[in-house]
Amino acid sequence: MDCHSFSVAGTAYRDDGSISPGAVVRITSQPAGAGDVLLNVTADASGNFYSSQPVSWGDGLYTDARGSGTPRAMQASISSGACNSCHAGADRIRVD
Ligand code: HEC
Repeated sequence: MDCHSFSVAGTAYRDDGSISPGAVVRITSQPAGAGDVLLNVTADASGNFYSSQPVSWGDGLYTDARGSGTPRAMQASISSGACNSCHAGADRIRVD
C-alpha cells in the first residue's frame, strides 16, 4: 500500500510459508463470504493481490481468501483494504 491508489492490497501465503499465486481474495458485505461480493481479486505470480476499484467501507466489510481449497474467512470486519498493515510477519494471510 505504498501506492495510495490501491483500495485493497496484500500478500497471500500457503501454510508452509511459500507464496500463493492465484489465491482469490473477496470483500463481502456479510461475514464468512455471505451477502454481496463487492470485490474479487486474484493474486499474481508473487502472491500479491491489489485492486484500485473503489470500495465503500461504510461501517465495515468482511473478507475471505482461498488458494485451491476452502476459503478462510476473517471474522472481524475491516474498514480498510490495507491487508498487510495487520497481516505482516507471523500474522500473514494464509490460504488453503
Ligand atoms: C485491522 C487489522 C486487519 C486488517 C486491515 C485485515 N486483517 Fe485479516 N485478520 C486480522 C485479525 C486480527 C485476524 C484474526 C481474527 C479474525 O479472524 O477476525 C484476521 C484474520 C484473517 C483471515 C483468517 C485467517 C485464518 O487462518 O483463518 C483472513 C483470510 C484474513 N484475515 C484476510 C485479510 C484480508 C484479505 C485483508 C485485506 C482485505 C485483511 N485480512 C485485513 C486483522 C486484520
